[in-house]
Amino acid sequence: MSIELKKGKSEKDFILVCKKNYKFRDKHSLFNNEELAFIRSQIEQDKHLIEINQYKRHAFVLVADYMFGKKTAQKPVHDKYEAIRKSGNLISKTLNRFKRESVTVIDEANDKQAIVSVTEGLVLGNYQFLKYFREVEKKNNALKTIFLDTRHLTPKDFEKLKVVLEATCIARNFVNEPVSYMTATQLSKEFQKLGHDAGFAVEVYDKNKIESLRMGGLLAVNKGSVEPPTFNILEWKPKTPRNKKPFVLVGKGVVYDTGGLTLKPTPGSMDEMKSDKGGAVAVACAMYALAKCKIPIHVIGLIPATDNRPGGDAYTPGDVITHYDGTTTEVMNTDAEGRLILADALAYAKQYRPELVIDLATLTGACVRAIGMNASGMMGTADEKTKNELKKSGLRVFERLVEFPFWDDYAEMMKSDIADLKNISGSANAGAITAGKFLEHFTKNSDDQPAYPWIHLDIAGPAFLTVADSYRGKGATGVGVRLLFDFLTGKAG
Ligand code: BES
Ligand code: ZN
Ligand code: ZN
Repeated sequence: MSIELKKGKSEKDFILVCKKNYKFRDKHSLFNNEELAFIRSQIEQDKHLIEINQYKRHAFVLVADYMFGKKTAQKPVHDKYEAIRKSGNLISKTLNRFKRESVTVIDEANDKQAIVSVTEGLVLGNYQFLKYFREVEKKNNALKTIFLDTRHLTPKDFEKLKVVLEATCIARNFVNEPVSYMTATQLSKEFQKLGHDAGFAVEVYDKNKIESLRMGGLLAVNKGSVEPPTFNILEWKPKTPRNKKPFVLVGKGVVYDTGGLTLKPTPGSMDEMKSDKGGAVAVACAMYALAKCKIPIHVIGLIPATDNRPGGDAYTPGDVITHYDGTTTEVMNTDAEGRLILADALAYAKQYRPELVIDLATLTGACVRAIGMNASGMMGTADEKTKNELKKSGLRVFERLVEFPFWDDYAEMMKSDIADLKNISGSANAGAITAGKFLEHFTKNSDDQPAYPWIHLDIAGPAFLTVADSYRGKGATGVGVRLLFDFLTGKAG
């Protein structure tokens, strides 16, 4: 994280977070009478972000409850906090334009979530991926420190905020790395470093071990590559976990997706496919945050990793492969590779008798076409209560989830003439759902009953942005980290 979060205050630039009816009486050290009159008139006009250049410092007034004013009374509460995050982003951009090095968030709103949200917007809006610039100093943002002057965040709240933002920035770094650096082997090394830093276990299976386990999906996708695959098992097992059965997180770790022999066209398609590891990275970084904050929840992460390339020995359309659980799949399109590697991982998850399995994957362009970059597609077999809890987390952290229908009709579309399944439906319709249905097969036992409750998140849209969107920025967003962290910390009570 290029920015440091500290409790306390400095006498320099500040953001006063308050409510509409806030009495500025005691704040004469911060504003003179003219400024106060200006602020009052702006609030009267329903402005929620007021900027005053005091020559020696920049002052901002952020009105946390403006959306509950006359004009916008109907807005849901999560929209309010998202607007505050966006204000945080705007403030960070202004401060950097004026080369300001620090800012103090002054909490006068009695609204903990408002302080958290503005900080999220500041930190995530300040993120930069500069590793590959020759002259990093010239590109570096000036803003380096955020002071939080608040009584409402407990030390634990503060730590969680700091760590989850750090984890999100690490996730962005990993996804922004090109495959020339971030091979499957390198990704495993990064996971081991995370595990070492945060205190969770990381076991990396190499190609030999993957062969001996007969993970035929992962091996098939890897065949056209010169880089070996890895299968990563991450485990955060606190001493006294609140859950008896573990939560299992599965992440698609395609470090680069050329499409394989079913080669992708480049512009607007293959160009962004370093982001195809977004699910894997979200899982690992969420676990980093959980472990670093010592959240008492037992979590296991399963991450199959490889690139997908059309090399000499590449798997071909028409091949039949055998997965970890013995299921056979006729490969009709080598670009539908994510589901093949996830199949092995979802089948492997059964041995843990999970409380719940959540997989995250940049799985389908169809999902992007259905709901764009603003949300992830959600489907699965978990009960309504669990799905609703996850959706609520999605609204809280504003990584929204849209549930797709998941009727059995769609599974029919994935049956092959010569094998148990085929990897594409062959229809242009409902591609996100048929992909989900393919995965579902591997979450069931041979009697067709679910082996565990399961939720699939297709994050293809929000994982990586080609056009900057406020604090989500351009490039990797780190989507999934804050979502999983919020959901699983919620499980700790
Ligand atoms: N990694 C892609 C999906 C993707 C698309 C991610 C856009 C991020 C942005 C995936 O492996 C893929 O290629 N899916 C195919 C499936 C098709 C062949 C059934 C797709 O969506 O086109
Ligand atoms: Zn693909
Ligand atoms: Zn892919």
